[in-house]
Amino acid sequence: MCGIVGYIGKKCDLKKVLIDNLKTLEYRGYDSAGVAIYDGNINIVKAKGKIVNLENSLKDVDICDSNLGIAHTRWATHGEANDINSHPHRVGKVTLVHNGIIENYNDLKKDLIRQGYIFVSDTDTEVLVALLDSIKKKEKDNIKAINSLSKLLIGSYALGIIFDDDCEHLYAVRKDSPLIIGVCNDCNLIASDVTAIIDYTKKYMLIDDYEIAKLGKDIVEVFNSDLLLVNKEISEVTWDINQAKKNGFSHFMLKEINEEPIVLKETISEYIKDVNALIKKMPDFSKYNKIHIVACGSAMHAGLVGKSIIEEYAGIPVIVELASEYRYKKNFYDSKTLVIFISQSGETADTIAALRNVNNDNIDTLAIVNVVGSTIAREAKEVLYIRAGVEIAVATTKAYLLQVAMLILVGLNLAYTNKKLSENEVNFILNEFEEIPSKIQNIICRDSECFNLAKEIYEAKDVFFLGRGIDYSICMEGSLKLKEISYIHSEAYAAGELKHGTISLIEKGTNVIGVITDESLMLKTLSNIKETVARGAKVLLITTDKFNSHYDFNCHEFVVEKVNSVLQPLLIVVPLQLIAFEVARLRGCDIDKPRNLAKSVTVE
Ligand code: G6P
Repeated sequence: MCGIVGYIGKKCDLKKVLIDNLKTLEYRGYDSAGVAIYDGNINIVKAKGKIVNLENSLKDVDICDSNLGIAHTRWATHGEANDINSHPHRVGKVTLVHNGIIENYNDLKKDLIRQGYIFVSDTDTEVLVALLDSIKKKEKDNIKAINSLSKLLIGSYALGIIFDDDCEHLYAVRKDSPLIIGVCNDCNLIASDVTAIIDYTKKYMLIDDYEIAKLGKDIVEVFNSDLLLVNKEISEVTWDINQAKKNGFSHFMLKEINEEPIVLKETISEYIKDVNALIKKMPDFSKYNKIHIVACGSAMHAGLVGKSIIEEYAGIPVIVELASEYRYKKNFYDSKTLVIFISQSGETADTIAALRNVNNDNIDTLAIVNVVGSTIAREAKEVLYIRAGVEIAVATTKAYLLQVAMLILVGLNLAYTNKKLSENEVNFILNEFEEIPSKIQNIICRDSECFNLAKEIYEAKDVFFLGRGIDYSICMEGSLKLKEISYIHSEAYAAGELKHGTISLIEKGTNVIGVITDESLMLKTLSNIKETVARGAKVLLITTDKFNSHYDFNCHEFVVEKVNSVLQPLLIVVPLQLIAFEVARLRGCDIDKPRNLAKSVTVE
């Protein structure tokens, strides 16, 4: 969370450069934003709310062309979103922006107060700046000062730092928060993510934990914690700037749903040729008799779908855990356990921490990740990339779909390896897989149907999603999508469980969305839904059967084409995404940037 950018180079309109770069990171947080620009003096301007507020405030501020600046977009952790708590923070002769959390800031603060420092904000970051300023009183060398700072901090941080005594350089350091350096001809940049540099350069360096970077206008030096120069590899961004634009769509979320057919095709094409390709292109899974899947948010929901598929088709027990829980609990694994980590960004703090624990225990790890070269992708023993491209809307859609697709492929691989499915059976499913992108396209073309269904829901106070088995897992994602972007309270329930308490919330007019695809459980779920109708619920079914005509059940329904049950989740989630989008649009919500959220959750 929080996005940081920085620039050192030839003189230019840094107000514009920093704002443009910062806007590409707004998905990381948008509670407030700020810049520090050096034009002989350090000018700090901050504004509460989205970056556009900062942009407006900057219009009235007279700042000359500059060669050095840093900026920040905030997702508040310590202290409310206001101008004082916003970054950059400046103490003495040090100005910096910070992404992360300093866990020992209270102890450090007490010590600094004893030294005479006075604090004006509620943030951990202000403590960090004061600490660096106090270190600088004894240590003139900036690299050494940053290194000493790192040794005193507990927590996570990516920092962009300007020292008053060296305005020819921009300094940066990281631990457990992402940071890259963009390398250009007449400038160098720092950023939390490559989207912020792509307008200038496709060349970038990844900075590792505790490495300290010193950027000049035409040189970048990186030092390790022993203060030795490190030779950093330069990587190249492979995607195009247009991927980070709306390209005619009203919202990124809608654009990203519309991209699902194409990105699915790109992700699966190398695996679905036949069973041999499926086996060859993936790691060898033959030794595993137990699987753990660890992730956060929608990635965890994808894991739940994966669990149903792997258990059903490959006969291997799967435990799915939230990374924030898994990292702190006792886990039971051995050399025959594979722990799969799922993450779109590859930078989610809890998922990284859980991965590191498992790596330390020498257990095999596999990452399913979107962002190439991200921390999780680099640190897992094996990685399978989904090819979602850039996903900007905070609420994930295409990446979730691809995570499910990858887990289906892993499940089929395991089913074949474990001799639960024959070569013919797997090939048959892979053949049908090829058709799924166009079937998703057919659903996307029915957007107006989703809009009409959304009209039935958008004024609701509560929505309950009901399903059994794999359908319940999909309900969890449908419910999260709806609540996070529309702010309607919603819950997903295992259909059979509702009567153990929650049914007391069902009253005349309560909205219930049933997901029914699993034939063996169809009538069971329908009975549970009828129990809610008996109490006045209004029902919408997302299903593969025509309940109105076949079961004489009077409700709104969205009927999805029936496909092989292992592939069905890929179709059934799409109308749920579209309905959530249309509900949020009808309610006038800020769909791509829902309140309080951030896309990349780099604090625990
Ligand atoms: C945030 C995002 C979710 C995402 C979750 C995990 O909450 O809004 O869309 O599922 O983080 O992120 P990851 O990058 O690890 O998939």
